[in-house]
Amino acid sequence: MQPSEFQRLLQTNVTSIVRITSQFVNHFETTQKEGGLMVVSSMAALFPVPYQAIYSGTKAFIMNFFNALSFELKNTKFSLTVYAPGGIATEMTQGEKFNDLKDWLMPVEQAAKEGIYALTTRKYNYIPGFINRVGSKLMKFLPKKFIVGQMAKTYRKSLKQSGH
Ligand SMILES: NC(=O)c1ccc[n+]([C@@H]2O[C@H](COP(=O)([O-])OP(=O)(O)OC[C@H]3O[C@@H](n4cnc5c(N)ncnc54)[C@H](OP(=O)(O)O)[C@@H]3O)[C@@H](O)[C@H]2O)c1
Repeated sequence: MQPSEFQRLLQTNVTSIVRITSQFVNHFETTQKEGGLMVVSSMAALFPVPYQAIYSGTKAFIMNFFNALSFELKNTKFSLTVYAPGGIATEMTQGEKFNDLKDWLMPVEQAAKEGIYALTTRKYNYIPGFINRVGSKLMKFLPKKFIVGQMAKTYRKSLKQSGH
């Protein structure tokens, strides 16, 4: 990854998230109004994704930041939610390195619907998709090194097939 691209990713996924969240939290803590804020992380926050190493790291930052900050709030009518999707069929997953994952991608409509559900029901962490939710629980029984290794193989295969 080029240094400029890395800076852009950090700016978007770390610096901006902290700044915008701080503004919202200050507002709701001061006014004690009712509300909720949801941030989009990823399942990559739970299981680091090879070939998307920096992206995964920023998504883990987002999850840890929100999960910790949640317990600093004094306003009990204000909630912080982390939305952690697996693959969704968007422009981001059009690339060739996602070729072997295409069958697993969730339609955008479902992702949006479950996102609204997570926010309005004030979930702490929410993974959309029943299979993703069960899978994430089951994967905790396996060594992380094994899971990350399997993901590396899948991505490597797709990259190889696309001539990278
Ligand atoms: N797709 C997946 O499989 C998946 C899985 C897990 C999590 N997510 C997360 O879901 C979120 C949405 O992703 P997506 O799949 O919808 O990706 P996408 O189709 O590539 O859309 C990304 C959106 O973010 C905007 N954006 C990018 N950089 C920005 C910046 N510096 N400032 C302001 N806006 C910026 C883009 O705006 P422009 O169009 O103007 O560039 C675009 O609207 C992301 O946080 C992603 O990490 C996606």
